Amino acid sequence: TVEDSPDTATPVRSRRRKPAEPGRQDWSSWPHYDGAAAGFRGYWYPVTWSSQVTGKPLPFTICGERIALIRDNGTAYALHNRCPHRGVPLSEGNQQFPGTVSCPYHGWTFDLPTGRLSAVITDGPGCRLTGKLGVRTYPVEERLGMVWVYIPIADEEPHSIDSQLPEELVSNAFVMGGRIEPRGGNWRFACENGFDEGHAKYLHRTALWRLFKPMPTWNITRIVPRGRWIFRVQDEVHWDAEFPGVGRWSNKRWWKMQPPKETFNIGNTGKADSVDPTIEAQDFPGFASLSMPGVLRIAYPKFIHYEFYVPVDEDNHRYVGVMVNFTEGWETLRFYAKYLGAIRWLFHGQFSGQDAWMVDVTDAPPEKLYRPDISLTAWRNLSEEEYGKKLAAVDGASAPEEKA
Ligand code: FES
Repeated sequence: TVEDSPDTATPVRSRRRKPAEPGRQDWSSWPHYDGAAAGFRGYWYPVTWSSQVTGKPLPFTICGERIALIRDNGTAYALHNRCPHRGVPLSEGNQQFPGTVSCPYHGWTFDLPTGRLSAVITDGPGCRLTGKLGVRTYPVEERLGMVWVYIPIADEEPHSIDSQLPEELVSNAFVMGGRIEPRGGNWRFACENGFDEGHAKYLHRTALWRLFKPMPTWNITRIVPRGRWIFRVQDEVHWDAEFPGVGRWSNKRWWKMQPPKETFNIGNTGKADSVDPTIEAQDFPGFASLSMPGVLRIAYPKFIHYEFYVPVDEDNHRYVGVMVNFTEGWETLRFYAKYLGAIRWLFHGQFSGQDAWMVDVTDAPPEKLYRPDISLTAWRNLSEEEYGKKLAAVDGASAPEEKA
């Protein structure tokens, strides 16, 4: 399914960070995270559906970098979207010759694999600049029907994209439906919202999706690390509370469908006779998990929902939401029909729209955290630690070169 638009449709706002007031919490405990307003570099990011990338270049912004995506002879390429001559976006240009893209203004023409200036149409073969300058290129891969671009920290070689994808998506057969759209709000607010259990039972109380699927609550939550993921594990606890002058609140009925299990198998419906053998081995300690660089995984019994929060700039991100069903053959048609007929509207529409609204209007720090925010702080701790390790690895890899 394709519903996407490049950055020309991205809402652009400018919000300046307010200084933290005395006695209120800022993000100084997480300096890497605090400094990553435009995203963590050194990761692969999904940009758009593969079917969108053709011989006509398209503009995107990822981690503050302006990028033009173009396809030539079946291969997708990513170049810095700025002609070095007078700064015109190469995404305004076109392909005059195979394997190249030409700027529309004066015809400077760039080789797609290397970014090197290979011809200057308006200056002929004697142009002295040909071969001497060029534009930056970015590593590109295609997975899950999408084009992914690696945004480097320095000039390091990218890690393999498969090592970054959720493990179960690398080797299992599956069918998926999804939605990609530009959204307002910082990418970190989107991560925090996705993993924030405190909002699920309140913000989404009017979501129709809640009639069909469990909404987690925050009581007795534990954060369980496993591999590069952190899991939110909730024990089976419900409560009823009287708020004087406000009324009565209960989370009891929402708990009925929540699997009270320490380990949650994908495909395990809770009935012994309906375990999907193809993915039985994949067990997760919790319903919701999150990993760098901002990948949310919600393991429903029959399918898994993933959200990739892609940084655009400090005020905008791209939402990439996919529902994956681990099946093959005719079953894939059944799931896809279910996706188009219901999930797409209930979950990727109304439910996710409520999240988009809150991500767009969140304005932190400063902030005051409360008990359920253990999921937010656990995510920030994970980011801090993982990114610290990544920086050290990149520094280590580039150190010999620097000495030389
Ligand atoms: Fe690109 Fe002149 S601005 S060729």
